[in-house]
Amino acid sequence: MHPALRKYRDLARDFDRQDPLRHFRRRFHIPRGVIYLDGNSLGLLSRDAEAALQKALRSWRDLGIRGWLEADPPWFYLAESLGALCAGLVGAAPDEVVMSGTTTVNIHALGATFYRPAGRRTKIVADELDFPTDIYALKSLIRLQGLDPAEHLTLVESRDGRTLDEQTIVQRFDDTVAMAFLPSVLYRSGQLLDLEFLTRRAHENGTVIGFDCSHSVGAVPHEFDRWGVDFALWCSYKYLNGGPGATAFLYVNRAHFERGPALAGWFGSVKERQFDMSLDFEPARSAGGWQISSPSILSSAPLLGSLAILEEAGIDAVRKKSLQMTRFLIEMTDEFLASEPYGFSVGTPREEARRGGHVALCHPEGLRIGEALRARGVVPDFRPSDIVRIAPVALYNTHTELWTLVRYLREIIDTRDYERFAAERKAIS
Ligand SMILES: Cc1ncc(COP(=O)(O)O)c(C=O)c1O
Repeated sequence: MHPALRKYRDLARDFDRQDPLRHFRRRFHIPRGVIYLDGNSLGLLSRDAEAALQKALRSWRDLGIRGWLEADPPWFYLAESLGALCAGLVGAAPDEVVMSGTTTVNIHALGATFYRPAGRRTKIVADELDFPTDIYALKSLIRLQGLDPAEHLTLVESRDGRTLDEQTIVQRFDDTVAMAFLPSVLYRSGQLLDLEFLTRRAHENGTVIGFDCSHSVGAVPHEFDRWGVDFALWCSYKYLNGGPGATAFLYVNRAHFERGPALAGWFGSVKERQFDMSLDFEPARSAGGWQISSPSILSSAPLLGSLAILEEAGIDAVRKKSLQMTRFLIEMTDEFLASEPYGFSVGTPREEARRGGHVALCHPEGLRIGEALRARGVVPDFRPSDIVRIAPVALYNTHTELWTLVRYLREIIDTRDYERFAAERKAIS
């Protein structure tokens, strides 16, 4: 073993011993023999989330339909209760956040409300590094207005193919722009954008702005209200550990409650009158108004447990540890994996204020290296063309796991072990 690597092992142990969040790891089911570093794709199941789901099942079993009002907490108000629980993570008032739908559906629901092309202002500004579903949804919102996305969707370009420059983004804000919609953290490189700056500049330009915060909520603190963000949405299966396909969240700044939802559905009704069954929709004057359908109780219940854990840990402590771990990994990559024959580079910004919760390790053989890691019990993921994404999650990962990852990566290159894997992607990698 490289002698300096030994030094880092001791360092990792020290970090882990002193980690104020270390006891949270026991609250999660860590797959046996696995170093799980894919919490930015699918967060792990906690015992708390498991218990909350079992409780919901028991309520269904014992109460049937009565669960809507008599379950603990009542299903009828679950979306609002979980929204209030999540509001603290994003710097919002409890009634500005609601659990609802899925990420893409929420882009449609909020996009339909906020994208109102009029006169010269007809364009949406997004970026070319966006997660594809966001772009699909934005293009369809433009088409629904009878416009052509080729003309009305501006995709800000990246200079290096990995990151975006906020100055370049705001240069695209002009009097032809009706709405900007951007990610908080780029899903490949892990760059964290300056949402406060982007919001200020959008507003100076008279443009509404919204964000897909799927890769930041639960890893990074947000201050939507203070920054004046117009709307946002995020999934709950990554750093919120809500489970595969768990119900998502959306935020509407209270300044916009009066707009009401463009896509109406009865669960957006004023709660007290929803069961009057009037054919005239009366939307709730809260983010709750943007719900469309009955919430999926079984895909939501785990969040009662997992959000309570995050609240207990505190998002600032989570961010502190997350930054410490990503910094540790970047340092070890520079020292042990950058030179020949290893050839890794870090695709994630090094400045803390520009870094989300994961690190992009770039290597031309990234796909096969990812497979070789899996064979050793490490779960990363791969994003084309060359990114092995590593997400050390503050609630359940350790510095020692990162140290082991680096040791394995050196071994995989030293022995050319990756060569025994086919360079073919699975349906999900
Ligand atoms: C930034 C971002 N947006 C959206 C999605 C997926 O959207 P949905 O939850 O609607 O499948 C993902 C999935 O990983 C994502 O990373």
